[in-house]
Order: sequence, then C-alpha cells, then structure tokens
Amino acid sequence: MPIQVDVQPDATTGESRRQLVDRFGRVHTNLRLNVTDRCNIRCFYCMPVENVRFRPHHEILTFEEIERFVRVVADLGITKLRLTGGEPLVRQHIDQLIARLVQVPGIDDVALTTNGILLGEQAQSLKDAGLTRLNISLDTLSEATFERISRRKGLQRVLDGIAAAQDAGFEKIRLNAIAIRNLTETEIVPLARFAMDRGLELRFIEFMPLDADGHWDHEQVLTGAEIRSMLEREFGPLAAAPRANASQPAVDFEYRDGRGRVGFINPVSEPFCGDCDRLRLTAEGQVRNCLFSIEEWDARALLRGGADDEQLAQLVRDSVGAKRAGHGIDNDDFVRPQRAMYQIGG
Ligand code: 5AD
Ligand code: SF4
Repeated sequence: MPIQVDVQPDATTGESRRQLVDRFGRVHTNLRLNVTDRCNIRCFYCMPVENVRFRPHHEILTFEEIERFVRVVADLGITKLRLTGGEPLVRQHIDQLIARLVQVPGIDDVALTTNGILLGEQAQSLKDAGLTRLNISLDTLSEATFERISRRKGLQRVLDGIAAAQDAGFEKIRLNAIAIRNLTETEIVPLARFAMDRGLELRFIEFMPLDADGHWDHEQVLTGAEIRSMLEREFGPLAAAPRANASQPAVDFEYRDGRGRVGFINPVSEPFCGDCDRLRLTAEGQVRNCLFSIEEWDARALLRGGADDEQLAQLVRDSVGAKRAGHGIDNDDFVRPQRAMYQIGG
C-alpha cells in the first residue's frame, strides 16, 4: 500500500485538512479539467488532421457532474483548477461552469487555457464569471505558419481575442508558444517582442510526444536552452527570476531594463516531474495522474452509478497513490499513452 498522509494540521490555522500525497511525498493541489475533446482548429502536435472521432455528448461529463467531482477533490486539498480541452471555449456556456466552480469551498483559483479563436466573443463573459487567469496559445505571428501548424486559418481572430482579453480587464494573461525545430525558429524573437510590447507574459513549451499522428521525433524538440540563447542574442543577457512556487513547471527569466519576463517549460530536456502537483480529469470523467498516464480511474462510473463522496474520494486517492516518479520519455521502456493531447487536456 502506498503511504498516504491523509490528514495533516494546517501550519497557519492548526485545522486538520486532508491532503493528496503520493508515494514520493508530492502534495497534489492542482486539477486540470478537460471540458471537451472538440476543437475549432487542428494543431498537428495535438490532433489528427482528418477523421477526428469526438466523444458523443452523453459520454461527456455534465456541469453538475464536474462540479460534484470538484467539491470532492476540493475537500481533499485541491485548491486550483485549470479548464482545458480540446478547446474549452467550444463547450456551450462554459462561463456558467466557471461561475459554479469559483464558488466551491476551497477553490481559490480557476484558470483556463484557450487557443484564443473565440475569445473576442467570450472574454468579457469569462471575466464576469470569475475566471482568474487566462493562458492563450500563440506559436507564431505569421499566418502561413499558423496554417501549417493548426491546419486552419485564424491567426487574426487569435490576435483579436488577445486584445479582447486585455480589454475585458484580465490581468494575468500568459501566452504559450510551442517551439518546433525547422518550423518556428523565426517566430521566437517576434513573439518575444509582441509579448513585451503588450505587457504579456510569454512561455515557450517544448514539443512533447502527445501528437495524435505519432510523428513526434526528438529532433523536432527545440529546447528551452536553445530558445533562451536566441533571445539573449537579440535582447541581451536574461537573469533568472525568483520562482513563485516550487511546483510551477516554468523557469522564468527577466529581460534587462525591466522589459518584463519570459519563461520556459522544458518537459523533455529538463523534466520537472519531481515537483508535480497536478491531477487530471478527462472530458468523459477519467482520472489521470499524469499527462503520460497509461492507466485511468473511472470517476464517471461512480458519478453515474450512485456512489457516495467517500467512494469518489477513494478513487482519487488510488490514482494519486499509483502515480509514477516521472514520465520517462527518454527511457527505453517508455510507452506513449493511447490518448493524444486533445483527449487529455494540456
Ligand atoms: N506538446 C507540448 N504542448 C502541447 N500542447 C498541445 N499539444 C502539445 C504537445 N504535443 C499545448 C498547447 C496548449 C496547451 C493546451 O497544450 O499549445 O498551450
Ligand atoms: Fe486545439 Fe489546443 Fe489541441 Fe491546438 S493544441 S488542436 S488549439 S486543443
């Protein structure tokens, strides 16, 4: 049996609060909710180009089911949520889900990761619903490269969406850029300048083997270290910024002269699994303890089968108890998960 420190007194209040701790002592406070596997574009690093088989609606968790799951895990020490997809903004009335989740006792932060296409229409309602943070994916400022990556048109809508999010009053907007060798090298400096000019944070993310077509190759990974030296050549030396919290995957740097920050998420070249505090729930209600899990725990069966909260809590504890030390991408026995990114949630 895994060791599970289940009830620990809170250091500041002295109150007993339940915690999700795994075999390696990692405390889980973060839940990523994939709210739909659907998407309005088709990025090659995430989705197949054609014949995508989306889950039928009856398999997808309802807002009531998601909220109940969140109430249970909030009681186990989850404090932060991130809504992902697919593209979360294609799920009807996502603002109503956010409005419900921000009210769950124990949840103090609800964030969302979007491709930005629908933000022009939805930024204000997301803000009004109480969304605290917004991550927008932007890999390129060139329409041609955007189309090569996402196999759809839409860059201008994304740029309009970013502006709409700023107008709606979001303070913490972050841009996520996947960097890919032989494709986005020329984008690095323009993206950095774009973010700098608008007061946005930018993070570069290494390409992980979660594409649907199974074409990922180590060679395509443009590493954080390489990107950093490209930026230093253009903007001068970058200084390491203090880490906000130990479990954040990104390593942040500051430009000289107070021109803001840039960050690197390097899951391939510098795995950060040792500090992982994340759990995932797929759109059809499967708990995953890692992006690269090959095992899942069926919360939907419990939610729809009349299980009580304690049974759901036990399922989540089982998942955490089985979590492996790391993803092992570079190990000889690495097994790619059956699911691609759009079916897991970034
Ligand atoms: N590797 C790294 N990041 C990915 N994302 C999607 N697929 C991959 C991949 N194979 C990112 C998207 C988005 C978030 C949801 O996950 O760019 O920022
Ligand atoms: Fe859609 Fe995001 Fe996947 Fe691209 S990465 S296909 S935007 S879900």
